[in-house]
Amino acid sequence: MILGIETSCDETAAALVTQHGRILANVVASQADLHAKYGGVVPEVASRRHLELVTPVIREALDEAGATLDDVGSVAVTTGPGLIGALLVGLSAAKALAWARRLPLVPVDHLHGHIASLFLEPTSLDPPFTCLLASGGHTLLLDVRDRGWENVRVLGTTLDDAAGEAFDKGARLLGLSYPGGAALDALARDGDSEAYAFPVARVPGLDFSFSGLKTALLYAVRDLPADELERRRADLAASYQRAIVRALVGRVEAAGGERIAVVGGVAANSELRASLPGATAAPLGLCTDNAAMIASAARYTERLDSPDYLGLDAYASAA
Ligand code: KG4
Ligand code: ZN
Repeated sequence: MILGIETSCDETAAALVTQHGRILANVVASQADLHAKYGGVVPEVASRRHLELVTPVIREALDEAGATLDDVGSVAVTTGPGLIGALLVGLSAAKALAWARRLPLVPVDHLHGHIASLFLEPTSLDPPFTCLLASGGHTLLLDVRDRGWENVRVLGTTLDDAAGEAFDKGARLLGLSYPGGAALDALARDGDSEAYAFPVARVPGLDFSFSGLKTALLYAVRDLPADELERRRADLAASYQRAIVRALVGRVEAAGGERIAVVGGVAANSELRASLPGATAAPLGLCTDNAAMIASAARYTERLDSPDYLGLDAYASAA
């Protein structure tokens, strides 16, 4: 089995996955509460917390699978993109574990991981497909030709904020705590999505832009008296969410392709899922960051034999 480790942002995660893509354990320790009071992830705080959590989380994953390190055949770890200090904690843990047992190590790109959430049982989606990857850090429209990372082609990306970032910033303006995507989704259910006409940015090609939308919400919130704002929060949330979903769905439809897939934290959004009924969405539990998707991606990535990986480095952003 493959031991996956993911520490690129504010989730410390470990998972055990078989070569066939069956999840034996999937443990995610979220640090969201720790960062909520700052309104976003504080990199240094995240690194320290990863350091405290990484070993217990790996241990818990082994327990959950009823396995020991003797059962692990390779170690997969996210090497980027993400917060560099956070990534280094996971990478160092992976190197130490792999080297102590002379196991191979598989460096996985976080974005490949999100796509590979679709390759796990029971979804087991086969390329080719057009994939919307929408998370807190990325918004990408991808042409996925096969299960490896080398043949994934970028069709469009965001020119400013990521879709998840737009959700989080909107949530903050509506008084919801970080990360607010899921809370905004819930609040929007009680609101009228036609109440406010928020703009969907017109960008050439298949790219996205969300910064104007965020500003529109800022102005709407600022112009409302406090009691009125309280009464209209759900309407604002619903209208704002509608605008983000429209932008995403519009681009997916423009990209075309016979089969559509949606992955990443924003793929958990109920309106987005409902708006793409023909698409394959990652299972809810695998949309936000986890290590099962990293172990899954490792099945389609070249492994490094011991000790060739000892000099391996992490990278903050894609080259
Ligand atoms: O994939 P992910 O866990 O981390 C990154 O790789 O960035 O995505 C996290 C993002 C956050 O911005 C969070 O607010 C958003 O996904 N998110 C949602 C929902 N659940 C999580 N956004 C909209 N609706 C949701 N239900
Ligand atoms: Zn992610």
